[in-house]
Amino acid sequence: MRLQVVDHPLVAHKLTTLRDKRTDSATFRRLADELVTLLAYEATRDVRTEQSDIETPVAATTGVKLSHPRPLVVPILRAGLGMLDGMVRLLPTAEVGFLGMVRNEETLEASTYATRMPEDLSGRQVYVVDPMLATGGTLVAAIQELIKRGADDVTAVVLLAAPEGVAVMERDLAGTPVTVVTAAVDERLNEHGYIVPGLGDAGDRMYGSA
Ligand code: URA
Repeated sequence: MRLQVVDHPLVAHKLTTLRDKRTDSATFRRLADELVTLLAYEATRDVRTEQSDIETPVAATTGVKLSHPRPLVVPILRAGLGMLDGMVRLLPTAEVGFLGMVRNEETLEASTYATRMPEDLSGRQVYVVDPMLATGGTLVAAIQELIKRGADDVTAVVLLAAPEGVAVMERDLAGTPVTVVTAAVDERLNEHGYIVPGLGDAGDRMYGSA
């Protein structure tokens, strides 16, 4: 597994406002969307392309287009939905799948309640999006499902990560073609499985259900 922390002043600026508990849901959603776009720019650095012959108004030339099979973007419900638009804005030809996963707040274990994506992901580049890499349980389970379906290149885009979650990903996904792209790796997890300092419950902050 490869970890990439995107070091950019605009990323740091937006993340600071996301962390601020005074930021309301509408602002939170807009900033999360903008932040995802910046992370997606880095996360798609190795997206596959193919040669494309075109004519400009002036001359014939050769460029590139996103290749086939199309990349797949998979938001993890519910909070990953708030990151979907930012991803597909940069990957307009991408197909979108969905994974519904819930974390048991006592055991912190992840279980899947809904799956909507192609059975066969052979040869596909997959971008899985979830705001918080906390214990790592949800992302590991999601990525194992993608790899089981044949995905050969998986990038997880998360807004924030905890060192504990990164360690679990490194342990459970060792030797797999997985990259994690994040805006920051925070200090630690608290006893409730929240990232410290973090930004609170990402789903609640996005959808105003706190
Ligand atoms: N999920 C969240 O939404 N926030 C955390 O801090 C950890 C998991």
